Amino acid sequence: MTTAPGATPLPDLDTRERIFHLVRDFYRQVAMDDLLGPVFAAAHVDWSAHIPKLTDFWAKQLLGEPGYDGNPLRAHEPVHARRPFAPELFARWLELFESTVDERFAGPLADRAKSRARRMARALALLLDGVHAPGSVPIDAGFTTHAPVPRAS
Ligand code: HEM
Repeated sequence: MTTAPGATPLPDLDTRERIFHLVRDFYRQVAMDDLLGPVFAAAHVDWSAHIPKLTDFWAKQLLGEPGYDGNPLRAHEPVHARRPFAPELFARWLELFESTVDERFAGPLADRAKSRARRMARALALLLDGVHAPGSVPIDAGFTTHAPVPRAS
């Protein structure tokens, strides 16, 4: 991302506090989103638990901090079973995530957050495709679902 001459450069996602701000701002938009909001409402997501948990998740991904010890892929199965993830949900999730990152952050860790999110969305689409009930429409996230997973950045 380029910075206009004279503008203050955006910080990277290099502290837990900045990661918390990203997570809070992202899920605030998710909760109000016409496509994603109902999925989280149907899952009865407890935001006061979800925000700290996702801060832990991203602090581990980006800073290597211990703390998150869940299984994010498996955790989506019951959500998907209740309300199957349509392909446009993945696209919308990534669109919102990337725009939230780009509005406030720039740098190698901000880039890594976006690439990890894309990789996780692909993995989720594949996994949930596998747990689809027979006869239902398979998930295709619409962006190289079956392409090789890129190496970690
Ligand atoms: C269609 C896109 C997605 C939807 C609709 C979705 C929805 C959800 C929901 C409803 C939960 C459960 C929250 C709860 O019960 O408290 C959840 C958990 C979670 N999601 Fe997603 N998600 C999506 C994509 C992603 C992606 C791409 C990532 C990672 C980059 C991600 C990371 C997580 C993590 C780490 C958890 C917590 C898992 C745990 O309990 O340990 N999600 N998600």
